[in-house]
Amino acid sequence: MITQVKTVSPEAIEEAAALIRAGELVGMPTETVYGLGANALDENAVKKIFEAKGRPGDNPLIVHVSSVKEIPALVREIPAAARKLMDAFWPGPMTLILPKADCIPSAVSAGLDTVGIRLPASEAARALIAAAGRPIAAPSANRSGKPSPTTAQHVFEDMEGRIPMILDGGACEVGVESSVIDATGEIPVILRPGGITPEMVQEVIGSVSVDEHVMSPLSEGDVVRSPGMKYKHYAPKAKTVIYDGAPENVIAAICARYDALIAAGEKPAILGFDEHDFGGRTVISLGSVHHADDAAARLFAALRELDERGETAALCEAVDPHGIGLAVMNRMGRAAGFDIERV
Ligand code: TXA
Ligand code: MG
Repeated sequence: MITQVKTVSPEAIEEAAALIRAGELVGMPTETVYGLGANALDENAVKKIFEAKGRPGDNPLIVHVSSVKEIPALVREIPAAARKLMDAFWPGPMTLILPKADCIPSAVSAGLDTVGIRLPASEAARALIAAAGRPIAAPSANRSGKPSPTTAQHVFEDMEGRIPMILDGGACEVGVESSVIDATGEIPVILRPGGITPEMVQEVIGSVSVDEHVMSPLSEGDVVRSPGMKYKHYAPKAKTVIYDGAPENVIAAICARYDALIAAGEKPAILGFDEHDFGGRTVISLGSVHHADDAAARLFAALRELDERGETAALCEAVDPHGIGLAVMNRMGRAAGFDIERV
């Protein structure tokens, strides 16, 4: 199969929408990361997503809509707190877990009684869903276990020959996947942190809880509330360690470790902030230390770059885990198997 990459235009969106209606897969931009979209109501189309990604069948997909009007047909109930979150943060980088209606194929929900719904901020994404005339099921468009794609080129690297078309909408603004929030009860539970932060949810609802597995690895026998937590994610080939502490301690510890790795014949790289001086050692930038959203936008591309350059070790500066910093630390933590050195 030839994979065509087309820049977003009315014609390209129409072509992509026709592919979705025909039961095919399309790589699509969103404000968070690129998605691998299919008609959410077509079980056969949805199964192609799992094949193309190499995704385990017990990991459910998010259903994307172009308007809140499409939601009542997809869920059994919209609890009051969910309604408030929708009003406050949609369109935007937030997925709400709600009780699913029967029309959602079990391939989408992986047999669960709930479904994740998202109304993306990306205009191209909404235009595609509206043109297709169907909700679009879309996981991140990476091969399973690779970092999520934040450019059309990343999607091409992972999906060339597996899908007919990628819509190129430029680099994703947010850069980490949507916040996944269980909104089936009275108090929202953040299952995956993202651009809609615990602080923002707290402000609207008055309470929020964050699942314990957001910042800790799973142990044998742990029960997970979101299947995605079980799987190793975002793992670069480089052995990845995070350094957390006062900046001067972090910089000193990273430089010392870097030099020891060089002496041992390894090929290390530092994921660090622009304001910090690593004395000419190899650095992949996480942007400004003052802007956690820079790190969010750059992290996945940085992890891919490690592999492209054949780095064998990655030494990462921790980010303050507040606001979107929590999402950055969750993804970086998973890439590092939560190997965090406090210095
Ligand atoms: O930003 C995003 O959310 C992107 C773009 C394309 O919209 N999509 C995305 O999908 O990240 P994916 O499949 O890579 O991640 C979805 C996560 C998985 O961890 C999955 O386990 C969880 O959401 N999830 C989906 N449905 C769920 C459900 N019913 N209950 C609990 N967790 C669910
Ligand atoms: Mg994913």
